[in-house]
Amino acid sequence: MRWRCARGLIGFREEKRGMTSYRVALLPGDGTGPEVLREALKVIQAAAQRYGFGLETTGYDFGGDRYLATGEVLPDSAIEEFKGYDAIFLGAIGHPDVKPGILEKGILLRIRFELDQYINLRPVKLYPCVETPIKDKGPEDIDFVVVRENSAGLYTGVGGFVQKGTPHEIAIQSMVYTRHQVDRCLRYAFEYARKRNKTNTLTLCGKTNVLTYAYDLWERAFHAMGEQEFPDIKRDYAHVDAITMWMVKNPEWFDVIVTGNMFGDIITDLGAMVQGGMGIAAGGNLNPEGVSMFEPIGGSAPKYTGQNVINPLACIFAGQMLLDHLGETEAARCVEKACVTFLESGALPGLSAKEIKESGMSTSKIGDAIADWVVKV
Ligand code: IPM
Ligand code: MN
Repeated sequence: MRWRCARGLIGFREEKRGMTSYRVALLPGDGTGPEVLREALKVIQAAAQRYGFGLETTGYDFGGDRYLATGEVLPDSAIEEFKGYDAIFLGAIGHPDVKPGILEKGILLRIRFELDQYINLRPVKLYPCVETPIKDKGPEDIDFVVVRENSAGLYTGVGGFVQKGTPHEIAIQSMVYTRHQVDRCLRYAFEYARKRNKTNTLTLCGKTNVLTYAYDLWERAFHAMGEQEFPDIKRDYAHVDAITMWMVKNPEWFDVIVTGNMFGDIITDLGAMVQGGMGIAAGGNLNPEGVSMFEPIGGSAPKYTGQNVINPLACIFAGQMLLDHLGETEAARCVEKACVTFLESGALPGLSAKEIKESGMSTSKIGDAIADWVVKV
């Protein structure tokens, strides 16, 4: 049965024996991707069971191994199939034997672009018992969200070479934005700040002192929209270089940050470190009117593949975002609570593979423990 929810059409939701069931495409991908995705699924399936809905999953083996064996990166038919799901859940993309860029562009970026997942939502939240490298800052100081434009800018691929290979070679890579792309991203960010209702502040991160075309458009659009549609949201501006200072020195200043694709890419790696590392940072590639994809921000960690020592928390938090996006707010909250309870239990001395290994924990034990908490919290 196909039906509309508040957010618009989100694919096929089936009513089976009176139970809502969502269809989720799984893309475990490369390296440790399959290991962390397995644990995240364990956890969100436990939540689905507790809250009385179904998650019907279909796996796809796209990634480095398939590419090396068959030469295929991602067929057009897969893109069409993905459009029929309620969500996509990705483990990791990146293979040591494949030239960088082929899989990232051919799988990750292609899905983002073709499914028009124009928002990359990346919460930067320090959880209790997680160590931040920022001295004297705790969970009360580090809790903000980056809304990264995810469909345009420097990622559009507009550019080229002139006189390639000569000493006079010219290389051009253009930062391309349409007013429409900027507006839809800003509107999402303003609405998100309003819904979040923390300090009701939206910070635009740009570079208006140098990128006097692209970020001029962002700045004008930001104030025009804020003034007309979101008078209740305070508007703040920071240059991208300055924001990297403030994110470290005064992370408590931020509520919601909105920025373009490339700056968003860069500052969210910093954000991930501020919140305790790649092992905990999750993100959602959202098409609010279409099909969205959730992923841990960290990579495929080839060095640890198959060792059952990589930390699955980032992927579990991505699962939490997926549930929230499906509208299963209570289940999402339960997953978050289970993770926090697990962290507070002191079962883990730290989040690195080394610490997990030395403590006798493992990827699957962490997944089991959190899935248990999902039933109990
Ligand atoms: C990310 C990654 C990707 C990006 C790469 C792998 C193409 O760094 O999701 O942040 O640049 O967006
Ligand atoms: Mn990145």
